[in-house]
Amino acid sequence: MAGLFNMAKRKRRNRYRGPDLTAELELDAGDELTLKAGEFDERGLATSMLDSAPVTIAGAIPGENVSAKVVKVYRDRVATLVGEVATPSEHRVEPRCRYFGECSGCQWQHIDYGHQLEIKRAMVEAALQPYETLREIEVGETLPSPSQFGYRNHARFTVGRGEENGVAGFKNADSRRFVRIDECLIMDDRINETLGKLQGRLDRMTQFSVRVGANTGDVIVQPLLPAEIQDVPSGRQRYVEEVRGAKFQVAASSFFQVNTAQLESIVVEIVSMLGLEGDGTLVDLYCGVGTFARLLSPFAGRVIGIEESASAVADARVNCADVDNVEFIEAKAELAAQDLVEAGLEIDCAIIDPPRIGCHPQALEALRVLSPQRIMMVSCNPTTMSRDLDLLCRSGFKLVSVRPVDMFPQTRHVESLALLEG
Ligand SMILES: C[S@@+](CC[C@H](N)C(=O)[O-])C[C@H]1O[C@@H](n2cnc3c(N)ncnc32)[C@H](O)[C@@H]1O
Repeated sequence: MAGLFNMAKRKRRNRYRGPDLTAELELDAGDELTLKAGEFDERGLATSMLDSAPVTIAGAIPGENVSAKVVKVYRDRVATLVGEVATPSEHRVEPRCRYFGECSGCQWQHIDYGHQLEIKRAMVEAALQPYETLREIEVGETLPSPSQFGYRNHARFTVGRGEENGVAGFKNADSRRFVRIDECLIMDDRINETLGKLQGRLDRMTQFSVRVGANTGDVIVQPLLPAEIQDVPSGRQRYVEEVRGAKFQVAASSFFQVNTAQLESIVVEIVSMLGLEGDGTLVDLYCGVGTFARLLSPFAGRVIGIEESASAVADARVNCADVDNVEFIEAKAELAAQDLVEAGLEIDCAIIDPPRIGCHPQALEALRVLSPQRIMMVSCNPTTMSRDLDLLCRSGFKLVSVRPVDMFPQTRHVESLALLEG
């Protein structure tokens, strides 16, 4: 573990532009601190204070007294990694992964799964609090993932340089140190099998991704591997996944939900929360390769998917070729939604599943005018979700329920389903 600290440089540049909060501290990477762990921050790390400087403690749980080693001194915080835990939390468990801490990909393997779900619920609740329109809502229990490990269908590996040339792994978010990974426990087994075949053979590469259709076993590796690697097919443009009996072709560049089994559960949840009964017009904003459009098509009269990526729309059209009530518009959501307003379309329901930055205000304004009876927001970012829900509530919708969903066990990431009524 000592090597983790050698490469750490003081004051590495980050996006923070405020005052230098750590200027007075005489600290270097590797120094040991004794700390009391406080609440989690948005990175999913327990926090503390050293004089007036914020500290994050990877691998700690709020309430614990710990020793921690300095990994990096930023201008806005000191990043540390837990060492000895003097007063372990009742929620502490032994991390299963041999790389936990050294690799920063999972933040919460040291926390029992039930408590992970509760923290995620609290994170969503906290994100809603700044808004008068949202704060009264009682956030539901987090929907657990069917699998706590082995659930990810998509991995993006970094390839090492120098002594680690050709080796696959991940980079630690704070130390930026490369960590060789021979098995990642949150990945589907078939991703680990592919990793095993490629490990140590990736000279001249910097990164590669492996995606698997969890229900089809179809594996793609991107980009094209060096010619001498002949036993692992690579460079194919698309792979195929199957969800609830429907086939989806997905371009290597396109988004697909990373936890296929949990996707199946949220579709059931969405049908029930939206009260879809087989008729009415449903608009699917930010529809990607048509996942929700296709899976919800049996529960609606007409579905209109809107997506800006040309290749995702091309796949969406193929994915919905076996149903006759779905159509797609290739355009930015904010522009296409305005067009629907101008066309005088009447819609009953909308599902909106934007990227992390959330929705364009014009898309939300168009929804106000389209005035569906129900809107389901699917979001992987509680902060932008709350901002957008507030805008919708101030334009006349009412937030009626919020359900966090665990798509990403062992990590700080949380997905949410939020239902609004007109
Ligand atoms: C979180 S993904 C959701 C995809 C889909 N709902 C699914 O579950 O697979 C967000 C999608 O929004 C698309 N996107 C991003 N900005 C957009 C915009 N302004 N207008 C339309 N689509 C956009 C991305 O290409 C991506 O496919």
